[in-house]
Amino acid sequence: MSDDYQLFTEKVYTKLGIDLQKYKEAQMKRRLTSLREKRGYQDFTSYFNAINQDINLLHELVDRITINVSEFYRNPKRWEVLRDTVIPLIKMNNQELTIWSAACSTGEEPYSIAILLNEYFPELNTKILATDIDEKVLAKAKKGIYVEQALKELPTNLKAKYFKQKGSQFEIDSAIKRKVIFKKHNLLEDKYPTQVDLIICRNVLIYFTDYAKDTIYHNFSKALANNGILFVGSTEQIFSPNKYGLTLLDTFFYQKISQS
Ligand SMILES: C[S@@+](CC[C@H](N)C(=O)[O-])C[C@H]1O[C@@H](n2cnc3c(N)ncnc32)[C@H](O)[C@@H]1O
Repeated sequence: MSDDYQLFTEKVYTKLGIDLQKYKEAQMKRRLTSLREKRGYQDFTSYFNAINQDINLLHELVDRITINVSEFYRNPKRWEVLRDTVIPLIKMNNQELTIWSAACSTGEEPYSIAILLNEYFPELNTKILATDIDEKVLAKAKKGIYVEQALKELPTNLKAKYFKQKGSQFEIDSAIKRKVIFKKHNLLEDKYPTQVDLIICRNVLIYFTDYAKDTIYHNFSKALANNGILFVGSTEQIFSPNKYGLTLLDTFFYQKISQS
């Protein structure tokens, strides 16, 4: 790592609590270099000085680091497995489920699970916690207003039932909104919840180093209740799940091995 970039990562950590050294370096450095150059700074030292004095540059940097793309029912086949196999399994001995959507971005993922439960498992009592490191996306998530593109994978009956069209945008039903609790949480720094029946964490671990991922998988495993499930993104299979006390249940779903 060049000294200039290394120093930048240290200053960003002090200022924002985001440890860039735990994100894959080549990819992150490329993203930040192109932003820095676009703003006309020759090196990361002068770029950081500018960020320190300009809140807009700071917000832009956070946006570039966090990569917030999301959508409802992202990879729809996986949501069918969730409905047909995973939820029936975890509800067998438990009518009260705790669900955590980690790195939830603008809320599409936790609201997808809230809709799915409301539609197919109305008898269940569920607590849905949704977290992200980025306060801006959490504010947007709480509003629950989306462009049509974000709903393209959602079955049309669910779209019609749970959204109200307002001009070119779609607002989520307020009863669904009330089912999700949004909170700021940094997967690399903060304490994890416990006794979670289902953790959904998708399309963020790809950005982390193997070392950071390893720690996060251990933490997820500890956060899960016995037989709880971890649902990961479609490029994020875990190669040795038993290292973390997990076993493969279905593609991209891992179950915590029960500990007596
Ligand atoms: C590509 S989005 C994924 C959204 C959603 N999970 C999905 O799959 O559609 C990645 C999210 O990870 C969040 N993120 C990045 N680093 C994080 C960290 N250290 N802790 C928590 N969230 C983080 C970003 O803010 C962003 O909203």
